[in-house]
Amino acid sequence: MFTSEILFLTILVIILGYFWNNRRFWYLIWKIPKVAAFDMTYKNIYNYYFGNTKILFKVLESLFERTKGISIVKYFPVVMVNVVLPEDIKFVFNSKVCIDKPRLMIDLCGLSEGTLFGKVKPWQAHRKVLNFYFTQQSLRSIIPIFNKRAKILMNNLSKSESKGEFNVFHNMTALSLETILSVMELEIDIQNLEEKDRDIFIKKIENKASAVMLRIFKFWLHPDYLYSLSKIYEFERKAEVGCSFIFAPQVVENIREKLKNDENNNNEYEKPKTFIRAFLDPKNNFTEHEIFDEIKTLIVAAQDTSAVATSSTLLLLGMFKDKQEKVVEELRQILGNFNENENLDIEQLNELKYLEMVINESMRLMPVVPLVGRRNLQEITLSEGYTIPINSTLMIPIFKIHRSKEFWGDDADKFKPERFEPEEFKKIHPYVFIPFAKGPRMCLGWRYAMYLMKIQLARILLKYEIDTSLKLEELEYKFSVSLNVCQGYKISIKKRE
Ligand code: HEM
Ligand SMILES: *[C@@H]1O[C@H](CO)[C@@H](O)[C@H](O)[C@H]1NC(C)=O
Ligand SMILES: *[C@@H]1O[C@H](CO)[C@@H](O)[C@H](O)[C@H]1NC(C)=O
Ligand SMILES: *[C@@H]1O[C@H](CO)[C@@H](O)[C@H](O)[C@H]1NC(C)=O
Ligand SMILES: *[C@@H]1O[C@H](CO)[C@@H](O)[C@H](O)[C@H]1NC(C)=O
Ligand SMILES: *[C@@H]1O[C@H](CO)[C@@H](O)[C@H](O)[C@H]1NC(C)=O
Repeated sequence: MFTSEILFLTILVIILGYFWNNRRFWYLIWKIPKVAAFDMTYKNIYNYYFGNTKILFKVLESLFERTKGISIVKYFPVVMVNVVLPEDIKFVFNSKVCIDKPRLMIDLCGLSEGTLFGKVKPWQAHRKVLNFYFTQQSLRSIIPIFNKRAKILMNNLSKSESKGEFNVFHNMTALSLETILSVMELEIDIQNLEEKDRDIFIKKIENKASAVMLRIFKFWLHPDYLYSLSKIYEFERKAEVGCSFIFAPQVVENIREKLKNDENNNNEYEKPKTFIRAFLDPKNNFTEHEIFDEIKTLIVAAQDTSAVATSSTLLLLGMFKDKQEKVVEELRQILGNFNENENLDIEQLNELKYLEMVINESMRLMPVVPLVGRRNLQEITLSEGYTIPINSTLMIPIFKIHRSKEFWGDDADKFKPERFEPEEFKKIHPYVFIPFAKGPRMCLGWRYAMYLMKIQLARILLKYEIDTSLKLEELEYKFSVSLNVCQGYKISIKKRE
């Protein structure tokens, strides 16, 4: 009896102490309007803490259902500040004090020394090194790699001709993994692996991401020790050893080998030819841990994202055949009598404006990254005069903003590439179309992704006519590494006349 009272009092003191120490945080949060993410039924609460990732997307989506202006969503352990007004989004993306990622993201992803989920300190140095390799000029030299790998896809796709629907995402993710590895100078033919070996890389990385997502909501698993005893931990470990991260050591070994050979030939210092060599350049001071986190980061960032975006675009073009015809018309006009063995070059890619509008429109409706987070390292004041306390989790719900009728008009849920015609697009606030985020922490690989997607789509569409039985209004979404269509990216292909 006596001991349980002491225990109770101790816990009470700890809790009160926590609120006292963080009193300014809670005071400021208290002043901001709250929105309910969901009704407090047992079922919803259960789903919130114990749900799978499909339910999580629903929760995340509903988080932003009732918002206008600044608001707070507060369901333990997550206190999120919704940032939905264009001016606020602009401020958050560009402010020096909002450059950090939310703490939970850094702590739970396990890639804290890499660019995407990394802490500010390694991020600054790495981003400086990396930016150089992702300019249009530097990308010129990797366009042939994009072409070469896409040709292998075309070769294999012929086996699916007129054979009914298949989930093209599996093929695109194999292709994008193979491509990023090749850009890192590791030649592995993922597309040519047996189907069961190939699909491991998709499944496992999805599992790893799901584990991280689920842990965010299960606050009792935040301490590493308790987590290490849980089933999810076991599941995450298993996923990590089998996923595409296993290529990181091979990438490093391969480059070290090449650098050793180069050393004998030339003594003069030149800027490394590829970013992967830059990581290993002693001048850049990357630690071993940083090198590995950075390689894994780039694999996740490049593999899943562009595969989702090309698959969504193909799916949408299968639904809207008239737009598909327009894309093909443009391709024929710009590429002339294109021969499959040719490479598309940067100049041709830059001219494919309608294709770009279609890609943009599909990233608007199905933003690969539906939600991004930031953390403010100082108090900030947003519109309506609300002060946001230091260390808040600022959430920018890209999915919602991209589908907002207020910003895009009543047909916001419709597929309409023409809204990206320069004249029309000018009327839209630049911070309501943010598939790659914006500001200093925007996607490093956005140009890479645009060129890659254009090459893959142009090649597929010139050769094949795409069809699908799915309808846009019927699609359901889930949130794993990225936004995914639950039904799968089911298309069928037949040779174009
Ligand atoms: C369609 C494809 C892609 C989309 C939609 C996309 C989207 C994004 C978004 C929204 C962010 C910001 C995340 C945040 O603020 O929390 C981001 C960051 C990043 N992306 Fe991408 N991405 C794509 C492809 C790529 C590719 C191909 C690469 C690499 C080759 C890449 C590398 C990165 C990196 C390194 C970051 C972290 C940047 C930083 O924190 O400084 N992405 N991406
Ligand atoms: C596409 O992926 C599916 C599933 O892995 C596989 O069955 C099919 O053979 C692949 N098709 C091509 C053309 O690679
Ligand atoms: C893809 O094509 C290559 C030859 O280009 C072949 O070796 C491989 O087995 C094919 N893979 C699939 C899944 O069809
Ligand atoms: C690497 O470290 C050295 C010595 O600590 C320092 O002088 C140099 O500026 C650093 N280089 C970079 C790119 O940070
Ligand atoms: C904000 O979070 C960091 C940890 O990432 C911590 O060191 C710092 O003390 C926090 N600041 C405040 C005012 O709570
Ligand atoms: C597509 O979106 C990007 C921003 O991600 C923008 O810079 C570009 O101008 C858009 N292209 C077209 C044709 O609207």
